[in-house]
Formats: sequence, C-alpha cells, structure tokens
Amino acid sequence: MRVLLAGASGVLGRRILRQLVARGHTVVGLVRSRTAEATVRSLGGEPRTADLFDSKAVAQAADGCEMIIRAATAIPTKVRTGPADWAMNDRIRREGTRSLVAAATQVGARAFLQESVVWAVGTLDGRPFDEDAPPAGDPILASALDGERIAREAGSAHGFDTLALRCGGFYSADGWHTRILAESIARGRPVLIGQQSPVWSLIHTDDAASAFVTAVEAPKTGVWHIVDDRPAPLADFLGEMARRLGARPPRRMPRWLARMFLGRYGTRILTSSFSTSNARFRRDFPWRPSFSTYVEGMEQVATAWRSEGFPPRRS
Ligand SMILES: NC(=O)c1ccc[n+]([C@@H]2O[C@H](COP(=O)([O-])OP(=O)(O)OC[C@H]3O[C@@H](n4cnc5c(N)ncnc54)[C@H](OP(=O)(O)O)[C@@H]3O)[C@@H](O)[C@H]2O)c1
Repeated sequence: MRVLLAGASGVLGRRILRQLVARGHTVVGLVRSRTAEATVRSLGGEPRTADLFDSKAVAQAADGCEMIIRAATAIPTKVRTGPADWAMNDRIRREGTRSLVAAATQVGARAFLQESVVWAVGTLDGRPFDEDAPPAGDPILASALDGERIAREAGSAHGFDTLALRCGGFYSADGWHTRILAESIARGRPVLIGQQSPVWSLIHTDDAASAFVTAVEAPKTGVWHIVDDRPAPLADFLGEMARRLGARPPRRMPRWLARMFLGRYGTRILTSSFSTSNARFRRDFPWRPSFSTYVEGMEQVATAWRSEGFPPRRS
C-alpha cells in the first residue's frame, strides 16, 4: 500500500514509518527540512517536501496514495505555556487537516487517519469514559475535536473512511515530555501537584504507532481510544520512572507554586485525570499493546536511557 504520512520525522511518525516499511508498505513522508528528509530516507521512506499549509504541494505529494495519515504536530516543547504557544498546533489540527483531506479527495484515497488525544473528551475528574463521552470543554483541546470533525465530514462527503485514533499520554525514551519529566525527577525537582493523584491512560509511543499500522491495513470509519491495558495513577508512573532512574521518589509542590512555574495549562494537565480503555479498538482490530502497562514500558525506556547516558549526571 502507498501511504502519505504527515509528521513522518516526528516521534510518533518515525515509528509509524519504520513499522509500515517493515510490513512492506511504501511510505511518502512529508518533510520541511534537509534533516527531516534524511530521517525519512534513513527509515526507508520517500521524502516529499511540503508544508501542511501548502495544499497544492500536499496534494502533489499524495499522488497515488491510498492512505493518508496526519501525525504532524506543533505541541509546544516548553514547560510553561500560554494560549499563544498552542496557536500553531491548532492551525495544524484544523488547516493542516483541511489540506490533507483535500489531498485525499483529489487523489481518491481510501482512508484518512487522524491522530487525536483521549483527554479531548470526558470529565477529567477520574471517572472512566469511552469514545462516546462529550467534549472535555478545554479551549486548548477544541482543535483536536475540530480536526476529527473536519476529517469525518470530508470522508462522508467524498466517500473515504475516516479513523480518529485518540491516543493516551505518550511516553518513550525519545519523547520530549518523557525526557523533561525524567530530568526533573533526576534533579529532585517537584513534578507532582498537591496531595491528589490523577489517573492517566498512557500508551508507549511504539504501541500508538502499531495501532496506526493495524488500522491502515483494515480501515473503517470510527473513533477509537489508543491506550494501554490499565489506567495508572500519575504518582505511580512517575514513581516507577524515578525508581528506574535510581532517583528519589518524585516530590510534590503546592498548586500555587505549580501555577507560577508551569502556568495554567501545565498545572491543569498534571492535575487532570483521563481514564479510558482500549476495549473498542481491541474489539474492532487485531491489536494489543506490546507494553501492557507503564511498568513494562518504562523498563524499555530506562534501558534505552542507560545506553544513551540519559539523563546526564550533573558535574
Ligand atoms: N498523546 C500524547 O501524549 C501526545 C504527546 C505529544 C504529541 N502528541 C500527538 O502526536 C502527534 C505527533 O507528535 P510528535 O511527538 O511526533 O511530534 P514531533 O516529534 O514534534 O513531530 C512533529 C512532526 O510534525 C511535523 N510538522 C510540524 N509542522 C508541520 C507543518 N506545518 N507541515 C508539515 N509537517 C509539520 C514535523 O515536521 P518537521 O520535521 O518538518 O518539523 C514533525 O515531523 C501529534 O498529532 C500530536 O498531537 C500526542
């Protein structure tokens, strides 16, 4: 199968690319720089230069593709963020999706896969929710659901399947968010807020990628939650990370201090629960996560970090 992958050089995209190529598919990876081009080529993909906001170039890159995947992002890589930091990410989720579904329409693709996040829906107070839960109502997450809707409407108007794969909290040895948490823990900085322990549905990024690959091979229209087998208290996940790093258990900070250092959004995500299940995806597709919980996943992450010498010891 010929697949167009937007975000091919990213943390998620590199894994989707590698796994698709290993299964004999041809992957056209959108790139914007020489570095991304070299990454895509080194993983066995065919790089095509196109910015998501250049719909003509995107459609040209999609020529001959049966499947189109949006796994591009501009999630801010800094600790304290405000609404302006999320503007580019919102554009990618809305305008970027429009460009890609226009390309899907033009080239007659069979299916469009949209990466999304589980915490865009649900109550975020710890009660478990499923794919039918109402929007969480956070303005920063509205674009995730808009992207799903843009894809769904285009698919039903032009006759291609649309798959919204809402992923749980990613962790991986190379993911920016995992690494910043590990560095903070290794340096003894507080990472937990208040006395509560939110519960998160996590997914190792390798397993998120394998869900995309499974879905590409048997596409059908719908929305699915891509998470591992058991939601976990954030304190347990970070505690396991600390143990694997040989660091002291994660420290806590009061909410007012978190607001000062992490801002409103960072504080909100670290105090919100999103507890959901992969039951629907496992019912509809032949998939299971290779890391059933964060315990197995962190073992792999910690092994990779040890061989890399991460996090660096402070001199
Ligand atoms: N569930 C979670 O916990 C979680 C966490 C983080 C991200 N995500 C999601 O996972 C997906 C991928 O994230 P990631 O961590 O792989 O991000 P990443 O490593 O930062 O990669 C971002 C990718 O998007 C591409 N991109 C950005 N702007 C683009 C544009 N205007 N045109 C074309 N390509 C563009 C980048 O290409 P260049 O190399 O050209 O910059 C890169 O390939 C996103 O959909 C994001 O929402 C989920």
